[in-house]
Amino acid sequence: MTSRNRLIPVAAILAAAGSVACALAVVRGSDALRERPPAHVALFVTADLRGYLAPCGCSENMRGGIARAAEQIALARRDGLPTLYADSGDSLFHAATVPPEAVPQEERKAKAIAEAMKQMGLVARTSGERDDARGAAFREGLGLPGLAPGEAKVVEANGRAIGFAAGNDADTLRQAARVARKDGAEFVVGLFHGTARAAQQAAQTSEPPLGADAIVVSHAESDLDGETNKLLRGSIPVMQPQNKGRSLLRIDVWFGPRAGPFELLATQQDAQRQLDALDERIALLDKQINLPGLDEPAKQLRRQKLAELTRRRETLATQRAPSGEGRNALSVRFIPLEASLPADRGVEAVLQRYDKDVGLLNLAWAKAHGHDCPAPEANQAAFVGNARCRDCHEEAFPIWEASKHAHAYATLEDKSKQYHLDCIACHVTGWQRPGGVCRIDKVDERKGVGCESCHGPGSLHAEDPSDDNISKGNTPQTCTGCHDPENSPHFDFDAYVRLITGPGHGNSR
Ligand code: HEC
Ligand code: HEC
Ligand code: HEC
Ligand code: HEC
Repeated sequence: MTSRNRLIPVAAILAAAGSVACALAVVRGSDALRERPPAHVALFVTADLRGYLAPCGCSENMRGGIARAAEQIALARRDGLPTLYADSGDSLFHAATVPPEAVPQEERKAKAIAEAMKQMGLVARTSGERDDARGAAFREGLGLPGLAPGEAKVVEANGRAIGFAAGNDADTLRQAARVARKDGAEFVVGLFHGTARAAQQAAQTSEPPLGADAIVVSHAESDLDGETNKLLRGSIPVMQPQNKGRSLLRIDVWFGPRAGPFELLATQQDAQRQLDALDERIALLDKQINLPGLDEPAKQLRRQKLAELTRRRETLATQRAPSGEGRNALSVRFIPLEASLPADRGVEAVLQRYDKDVGLLNLAWAKAHGHDCPAPEANQAAFVGNARCRDCHEEAFPIWEASKHAHAYATLEDKSKQYHLDCIACHVTGWQRPGGVCRIDKVDERKGVGCESCHGPGSLHAEDPSDDNISKGNTPQTCTGCHDPENSPHFDFDAYVRLITGPGHGNSR
């Protein structure tokens, strides 16, 4: 759907609501003296998606997914609210560069993200280095409505002119906002490729003023900085949604009878406190559910409780925003895209087509260009596979075979993700290491998380067994390369290690 097509229903909604007069009296220019009928518009903005279409599913109840974001936007539209969607950049690729073997997958993924954004009715976006990992020409080829720093676009919704202004520093943002105002924008959203701090600095010190009413930034200062939603108050509110598409930003804008500055409405303190308390309880239950070794009935009970709490949270979070009816005001909300939220069917179909294609693309690349693993350097150990360990450590096997590690590759096969380069590294043994797995079409005896995933490559030890040429594997660092905060958010070394040890294997615990 193009933005032009999408605007037709907005006019239709106005007509249906009997506000034909206001549909005709589109206000262009900021004539402060002319009275305008009040209006309400919802803006949704994504930023810093980092090439995430959906969470991996490594843990229960993972946040995120572009299909869930799409459904939130669709729901607002179905409610009859004039709604626009924009993206502030750093969204198409995971990183600013793509290794050669990942090029087919990452390009296909960027296409899927672009397809999803078009379905969501994207009206404007700007880009950062995570959008140009395959060059500007590739990005432009995706056909998204892109804005370079300094450029602006004005879109009408509910008879109001909303401007999107792109910038990557104070000068370009100011220039873009000026263009937007000249084109009649009554409310200007800055799409800023830079950090929240830089945007706030620009808002505070820019002379002449920036001319934006709100700024959405895409570029987190660090991975940690990108973990949380941010709203910096000030002369111009600056917003940064949680990265990897885990939260969706919603800005409600109310237009009063006269042009003038927009007041940022206070969030409802009570509702926010209740939300925080629910969040805490949800996080705790979530941790309990993911505790390894919990039996199924106990898990089931907690899942029910969690579902109930999540429903309550949703009701609370999706309550009508505090209203700015009758004056120039905006309210800001970050919608956490919890696993319990519904997904848009059309965008889900985009994801399914991506999944189907990417396995074939990666396999074809591996067959045409794949390299076997490099040979180990002199005195460097190589991975040799479980069979060698079994020759001397048969007693450790029953415990390992009963653990989830033994089935880690099968988990990917069940989900048809075994050829995804996003997934394979932690679900096989020795990814990209001598004697390990270096191409997805040759996994052979390295399927699953084998002995050497924790004890390290064992060729030297198998040749000449001793306790100083093999790792004991008994430190948290042994695990956290795979059990990282994203893929194993509830990881606890003592609790987890108990589940992989037992009689015959590390019975010291
Ligand atoms: C950085 C390492 C890492 C990557 C990359 C990774 N996983 Fe995982 N995955 C894990 C870990 C660790 C667990 C176990 C988490 C836990 O139980 O705490 C896991 C568990 C899972 C499970 C749950 C299995 C079960 O028994 O319930 C699924 C499904 C899964 N991963 C699928 C995927 C898919 C699909 C991808 C790619 C999109 C992927 N993983 C990428 C590390 C990873
Ligand atoms: C040829 C027989 C043999 C093979 C093959 C073998 N081991 Fe061992 N392994 C031993 C012996 C013997 C010891 C005890 C060495 C000692 O205490 O000096 C040992 C000790 C260990 C230890 C304990 C080290 C410590 O610090 O206490 C680990 C862990 C281990 N092996 C893992 C492996 C793994 C993983 C493999 C497969 C890659 C493997 N072994 C293959 C014979 C073998
Ligand atoms: C090479 C990556 C990797 C390493 C290293 C690793 N794990 Fe895992 N672990 C996984 C994956 C992947 C899964 C999920 C397997 C599945 O179900 O498909 C998993 C699952 C588990 C589970 C089961 C969790 C559950 O939900 O039941 C436990 C327990 C566990 N790991 C403990 C550990 C401990 C302790 C260490 C370190 C001593 C460790 N793992 C090291 C990848 C790894
Ligand atoms: C998920 C990580 C992990 C995997 C996979 C794993 N181990 Fe271990 N292994 C450990 C840890 C942790 C210890 C030490 C436990 C402790 O401190 O008591 C250990 C201890 C050992 C020891 C020391 C002697 C003993 O039993 O205490 C041997 C031998 C051993 N493992 C062999 C194996 C073999 C063989 C496999 C594959 C079948 C394997 N391990 C798979 C983590 C792992």
